This record gives sequence, structure tokens and C-alpha cells, in this order.
Amino acid sequence: MSVFTYRNGVLHAEDVALPAIADAVGTPFYCYSHAALTAAYRSYADAFEGQDAAVCYAVKANSNLAVIRTFADLGAGADVVSEGEMRRALAAGVPAERIVFSGVGKTRGEMRAALEAGIHQINVESVPELEALSEVATSMGVEAPIAIRVNPDVDAGTHAKIATGKKENKFGIDWDHAREVYGRAAALPGLAPLGIAVHIGSQLTDLAPFRAAYERVVELLHALRADGIDIRRLDLGGGLGIRYREESPPDLTAYAGMVRSITGNLGCRVTLEPGRSLVGNAGILVARVIFVKQGLHRRFLIVDAAMNDLIRPTLYDAYHAIVPVREPGPNPDIAPIDVVGPVCESGDTFALQRPLPAMGADELVAFHSAGAYGAVMSSTYNTRPLAPEVLVRGDAFAVVRPRPSIEAMLAAERMPDWLA
Ligand code: LLP
Repeated sequence: MSVFTYRNGVLHAEDVALPAIADAVGTPFYCYSHAALTAAYRSYADAFEGQDAAVCYAVKANSNLAVIRTFADLGAGADVVSEGEMRRALAAGVPAERIVFSGVGKTRGEMRAALEAGIHQINVESVPELEALSEVATSMGVEAPIAIRVNPDVDAGTHAKIATGKKENKFGIDWDHAREVYGRAAALPGLAPLGIAVHIGSQLTDLAPFRAAYERVVELLHALRADGIDIRRLDLGGGLGIRYREESPPDLTAYAGMVRSITGNLGCRVTLEPGRSLVGNAGILVARVIFVKQGLHRRFLIVDAAMNDLIRPTLYDAYHAIVPVREPGPNPDIAPIDVVGPVCESGDTFALQRPLPAMGADELVAFHSAGAYGAVMSSTYNTRPLAPEVLVRGDAFAVVRPRPSIEAMLAAERMPDWLA
């Protein structure tokens, strides 16, 4: 059940009317629901109860400290892909021993920081990375607990920009070389290869590609054990999709059941790295209509959010449901309209010919399913300040990232002496 519902004709987040937040922080703003975050995490925890499984929230989906803290309080670990994300996770209270570090391009500095923090696992994606990590760990006199990310060459059936498990993608070690690379890892000093990692893509709405990838992983596990490499951990990645429009992603019980059926008797600890499915539908973006413009052939709803705030529509042709914050009457006049932002690019378009009830200037609109890959992918293009983030819990709300002032944005830059 959504926590974003109309009450008395006004869209609320839990018990807070969105116009009250707009009055306090201005628009556009991101709004997250603590209850929805909590419910999403609990669904994972409940579905995997009884399995030796850890949920490491993929921080990249929404790295606000308050969001990470919400999950940390519930017992979550974190999947991070940079030193910055690692430090966020630690700062938000995720214990180091529940942090997994993924990514194809970790620098030596990042490796050192991860080893100093004593995190649970580093997921290695290439031979040069293995060699670098071996050197860094040896120089520090420690042993790095690693999993090797393999590329199972499975088609995730998702958008090309977010599919990662085909052999032409940059991710992981080619399936055909995996066994040999584990041999190399076992021979290098300072590395303890104890896991296999896989992640085939994001916004998957079918279990079949997950199953195919996990079955390949188990095949590899047996081969490695036969080679004398003691695999005790399986990192199964993230990727479970959410409903943006009409998708019907598999439910968590089905997903967990599939995982159990494939990995249940291997004596391995399973790690999951969900991002989107924990935060996507726990957040919305709220904007205000600036103008309604009648063009030659179509109408435009020009709002004060733009592609710099939510880039998913233009980058992935992503669909986000758009609704007026003031509830439409019983028989609203619905007409197609292009919903666009103020940025000077035609790509600054949220929706083309979207059927929407008539709205006028100054009205508030909400973009649904914006909790994942929304604020984290925003930029200050066109010198637009980053939209603030607000967390609601019950009838309370708190600004968890304020909108920077334009003065602060300008003050962050420096003029060289020779231009002063
Ligand atoms: N683990 C790894 C190694 C990943 O690369 C990712 C996402 C995840 C976990 C989390 O996947 P999720 O559960 O969120 O699907 N910006 C794109 C999505 C990029 C996903 C990148 N990797 C979007 O807005 O759709």
C-alpha cells in the first residue's frame, strides 16, 4: 500500500500534507517516507528469514545519510562503490563488517581506505585490480577478504544502460576465465578469495535471468571447491525491479524461495545488494507548475523541476507517474500534455503527451517512484541548486538535505589571482 495518498483532497506523505512541506522548503523537493523505507526493508528481512542471508543496501540508489541510517537501524549492511559511499555508510552507522565494496574501478587509495576500515568484503572485477589489491593489502600487512565478480553472460532483459551481465559489458570476469582468475587470486599474497559475486542488471521484472545467473554461479562454486578454493560466500547482487507503471516484478517471497532452492544446501552466506527495490517507491519528487504553455500543436506543462533534478526520463526513457497534489474531482478533464522543465535542452522532458487533468500555474505536481536514482543522480546544471530532501515519519517531517543557496554555490568556486 502506498504511503503517498490523497486525504481531504490533498496528496500526503504518510500524515503530512505535501503543500505544508512545499511551504517550508520551497519547490522542487524530494520527499521520502520512513514507513515505506522500513516496510521495504522488512519485506526483504521477512522473505529471507531462516536463510543465512544479509541485505546490504546498495547505497548508490539513494545515499542520503538519513535513508542509510533508517536501514542501518533495521540491521542492514551496505553495498558501496566509492570511498565516499563507504564513508557515508560508516557515518550513518552501518558497521564496517556489514559493508561490501563493489565497482570496476577502485583506486589504490580506495582499496587502502576499505582495508583500513576493515569492511566485510571487496568485490574484485579484473586481474589488474586483483594485483593492485594484493600489493596494497601486502603493504599494509593485512589480508583482503574478496569475492570475484563474474559475468555470467545472461541477458537481464532490461534497459541497455542498466544491463550488466552480458559478456560485452565492462563488468566482472568473463565466465570462461573465472576459474583461472580464482587460481591467480589464490596464488597472490594478501588476498583471501572466499566468495563469488554476480549482478546482472537493474530493474529486472522476471526471475528467470536471476535464476540462470545464480545457477551458473553454483556451477562455478563446485568447480572452485574442486580446485581447493573454499568458497563460503555468495553475493547475488541487486536488481529486483519495482512497479513504475504496469510492471509486475516478482514478489520477494518468490525471489527468496528461488534463492533458497539454488543456494540453500551449499553452506554459504548469501549477500543481497538491493537498491531500487528498497527506496524506489518510498520517494517522490514534488514540483510546482511555472506556466502552462500552448504551443502550435501541443500543450506544455512547465514545472520547476528539471532534468538536473531527475534525469531518469531523459537518460533511460523512464516512466514516472505524474499526479497533481490537489486531488482531481470525480470527472476530471483529462488531456495529453508534455511535462517539461526549464532547462535549455529539448531532452529536459519528463513525459510526452501524458494524459493529465487540467492544471494551472502554481499548482503542485508529484513524480512518483523517485526514491531511487533520483536525488543521487542530480546535478547543478544551469546553476540550479540541488533540490532539498525531506524525510517524513508519521506527522513529522525533517529536511535531511537543505537546498544550497546560490551564494553558497558561487562561494564554492575560486577566481585565479591572475583574473581577480
Ligand atoms: N549491486 C551492484 C554491483 C550494482 O551495480 C547495482 C546497481 C546494485 C547492486 C543495485 O541494483 P538495484 O537493486 O538498484 O537494481 N541509474 C539507473 C540504475 C543503475 C543501477 C546500477 N547498479 C536507473 O536509474 O535506473
